[in-house]
Amino acid sequence: MLRALDTAPVPAVPYYVPAGNECTLFAHAHRNRLPVLLKGPTGCGKTRFVAHMAAELGLPLFTVSCHDDLAAADLTGRYLLKAGETVWVDGPLTRAVREGGICYLDEVVEARKDVTVVLHPLSDDRRILPLERTGEELAAPDGFMLVVSYNPGYQNLLKALKPSTRQRFVAISFDFLPPERETAVVAAESGLAEGKVRPLVSLAGRLRALKGQDLEEGISTRLLVYCATLIAAGMPAEEAVTATMIEPLTDEPDVRTALAEIARATLG
Ligand SMILES: Nc1ncnc2c1ncn2[C@@H]1O[C@H](COP(=O)(O)OP(=O)(O)OP(=O)(O)O)[C@@H](O)[C@H]1O
Ligand SMILES: [Mg+2]
Repeated sequence: MLRALDTAPVPAVPYYVPAGNECTLFAHAHRNRLPVLLKGPTGCGKTRFVAHMAAELGLPLFTVSCHDDLAAADLTGRYLLKAGETVWVDGPLTRAVREGGICYLDEVVEARKDVTVVLHPLSDDRRILPLERTGEELAAPDGFMLVVSYNPGYQNLLKALKPSTRQRFVAISFDFLPPERETAVVAAESGLAEGKVRPLVSLAGRLRALKGQDLEEGISTRLLVYCATLIAAGMPAEEAVTATMIEPLTDEPDVRTALAEIARATLG
């Protein structure tokens, strides 16, 4: 006889290897209704971390990639014409507030200045979202959490977060994982054996040391995953390294030659 399964399917929690106590800190911030700011270089795991924590805490996640044309109405919502009628459509921030989920604003420094106007009352102890257009004022439920991230490396003076904004957030600094953990991550993400990933991670370490001299930004864990994925798929290691760990970093022929030299010396 068939028995009905009494367990609902558990949603998969995205794989994330912590660098330190960031998971506990994030959970505490959520429990205490505090917003969080994540900072760190590109491709070091910020987005993955938020996806992981949202699943761990069982919260819906609304992610917005900010750009220089992103206005407050893109977050809150706007009236749209639908089948001849004007209807209000919630933006991702409003949905996160109504549903008690996480609103994650990636590269928040890129957004237009009017965005801070909606973020401020939500990110201090008022926790309210005024919707001017509809005349509503939403009080954020306990589940709601505002998470923003940015990459301090690209910051210029015009685009820095104002102190009045950054001082509303619990801040967590991200960096690349220590070599052993990064090796485990790259192997897990790509399917390439750890023994073959290890030399790629040490090459990444050497290339990261050039940041600020010849390179604007150190090589990301993301590119390491690409490299290992191509090698696991059967591409010759040298070609994969050139395509993922050298070419994306620079357009300067001299720098490219120097990086290739370091790669040859490291990988043999
Ligand atoms: N700690 C980690 N645990 C698991 N996977 C990781 C971790 N760090 C990095 N990764 C891997 O690196 C990839 C890039 O990470 P992610 O997209 O989270 O970077 P990011 O910091 O959000 O970068 P960006 O600033 O460019 O948006 C992930 O897709 C994942 O494969
Ligand atoms: Mg990201």
